[in-house]
Amino acid sequence: MSAPMADTFVREIEKNNEEVIKIHQLEIGDVGCVVWDAAIVLSKYFETEDFLKGQLLKQKNIIELGAGTGVVGIIASTFGANVTITDLPEFNQLINMNIAENKHLITGNVTAKTLVWGTDIITDQAFDYSLQPLVKTITDHCNGSTTVLCCYEKRTTGNKPELERTFFELMTEKFHIEEIPLYKQDPQFRSADIHIMKFKLKNP
Ligand SMILES: C[S@@+](CC[C@H](N)C(=O)[O-])C[C@H]1O[C@@H](n2cnc3c(N)ncnc32)[C@H](O)[C@@H]1O
Repeated sequence: MSAPMADTFVREIEKNNEEVIKIHQLEIGDVGCVVWDAAIVLSKYFETEDFLKGQLLKQKNIIELGAGTGVVGIIASTFGANVTITDLPEFNQLINMNIAENKHLITGNVTAKTLVWGTDIITDQAFDYSLQPLVKTITDHCNGSTTVLCCYEKRTTGNKPELERTFFELMTEKFHIEEIPLYKQDPQFRSADIHIMKFKLKNP
């Protein structure tokens, strides 16, 4: 039996077609328990011309890593995408609650699964950076036609700049990298310090 969840409070995200996505966030919990700004920026990017106002997501098979509340995957599924939303086991219940809350708007398929980065691959190897399991997990879920979208807020404190540099070093070994310029993003929901990156495998 899973532990009871903390109380929730709802964040509403309105799509351009006026559908309102309701996302429960935990009052107490780890980093994934609230909707991050980068998640909103990426979700609103889905509504731009780059995604044919969301139509490009229709029937696409998508895996979301480190989904937290599941907001990005749920919004993608309202455009008809088939999404597997993943995070650590403790977020499964919250993601399922958010799927149920928005069921009436979902036109694709959506499932919540536990996926701990790198777990099904790491056996006896010690890593210097926790990023390596993430990059491995991303790589293991890609083939030649997969597009990886990554949206993050730039941080300047602590070890964040080094983690960011290492993440891009590791990704550059395997992926072509393209940054989505601000002018292509949602005109309201964008920010100079939030970056949307697109990765494609170099050698599938
Ligand atoms: C900064 S939060 C972002 C949550 C969500 N994507 C958003 O933008 O609102 C990072 C997420 O990655 C998840 N995460 C961190 N380490 C992980 C790991 N080793 N395996 C799976 N998920 C992990 C956390 O639980 C958290 O939900």
